[in-house]
Amino acid sequence: MLEKFERYPLTFGPTPIEKLPRLSEALGGKVEIYAKREDCNSGLAMGGNKLRKLEYIIPDAIASGADTLVSIGGVQSNHTRMVAAAAAKIGMKCVVVQEKWVPHYDAVYDRVGNILMTRLMGADSRLVDDGFDIGIRQSWENAIQSVKDAGGVPYAIPAGASVHKYGALGYIGFAEEVAQQEEELGFKFDYIVVCVVTGSTQGGMIVGFAAQDRADRVIGIDASATPEQTRAQVRSIVDDTAELVELGRKVREDEIVILEDYAYPAYGVPSEETNDAIRLAARTEAMMTDPVYEGKSMQGLIDLTKKGFFPEGSKVLYAHLGGAPALNGYSYYYKDG
Ligand SMILES: Cc1ncc(COP(=O)(O)O)c(C=O)c1O
Repeated sequence: MLEKFERYPLTFGPTPIEKLPRLSEALGGKVEIYAKREDCNSGLAMGGNKLRKLEYIIPDAIASGADTLVSIGGVQSNHTRMVAAAAAKIGMKCVVVQEKWVPHYDAVYDRVGNILMTRLMGADSRLVDDGFDIGIRQSWENAIQSVKDAGGVPYAIPAGASVHKYGALGYIGFAEEVAQQEEELGFKFDYIVVCVVTGSTQGGMIVGFAAQDRADRVIGIDASATPEQTRAQVRSIVDDTAELVELGRKVREDEIVILEDYAYPAYGVPSEETNDAIRLAARTEAMMTDPVYEGKSMQGLIDLTKKGFFPEGSKVLYAHLGGAPALNGYSYYYKDG
């Protein structure tokens, strides 16, 4: 479905699928768990899901004649790290607005992990006091205007690279890649578990797997704690993207599966259960997940497996989207492991 779209390579290529036998065993051994390692997808500033999205956005940025990528996220945003990385790689300037999306007060929260790397890559990182919202933000529009006022040519990338015409294409590529890898493996996955916040990762997967008639097997685990807004955003991304790639039909409501039970107590704040999930993945598979996103989808995967949501014998693919750099901003939780 992607042949007609230009792609600027930022990743190594197809990401590995890794079997997780010790995690599967720890959860009862009735379900086989695998991870698709999107967190290991690139040499650019530790990689992650945003690079798959940016591969289809960067050609448009270059064609627009822009000299500055402008984007937005939280203080420990993986997305702004990845926009800064893409800008460095293609030789553009970068302005990123970093809002106070998370009520979290580690002393070095705004100096380590993602924001540290963002600054190292030369991005102009601007801290702003506004709270969490996945929609279009005034602070971002102000940053775009400030680039223009200084004589630059901005190219605007919204939060999570999601509400962008090409934002979901990369994860259609993910669905096509999984189908190819399944041929090599000789079996098909019964479920795919994925974290969802701004929506274009799961949205792209839904369109991609809808073409294989199994979008309802993509289980989105909400980490936004504003699930209605996230669901509405996924719905509109799915509709716009399905039209863009000429899927040829409307995606049904039952093909958009988002579970809301794991985002508590708030976006960016891990629960005890989230932290236990992070520890279990680390101790069984040395797989690092973060307290904002992947720890919550890992918590969902663990809980759903224990509850028997996946029938015995199921093969479940956990999409590991990256995010481990944020762990540095949460060191107090893990001072004793
Ligand atoms: C590590 C990680 N996991 C999951 C997500 C959620 O993806 P999306 O915003 O496309 O829903 C993000 C970004 O928001 C992320 O950085």
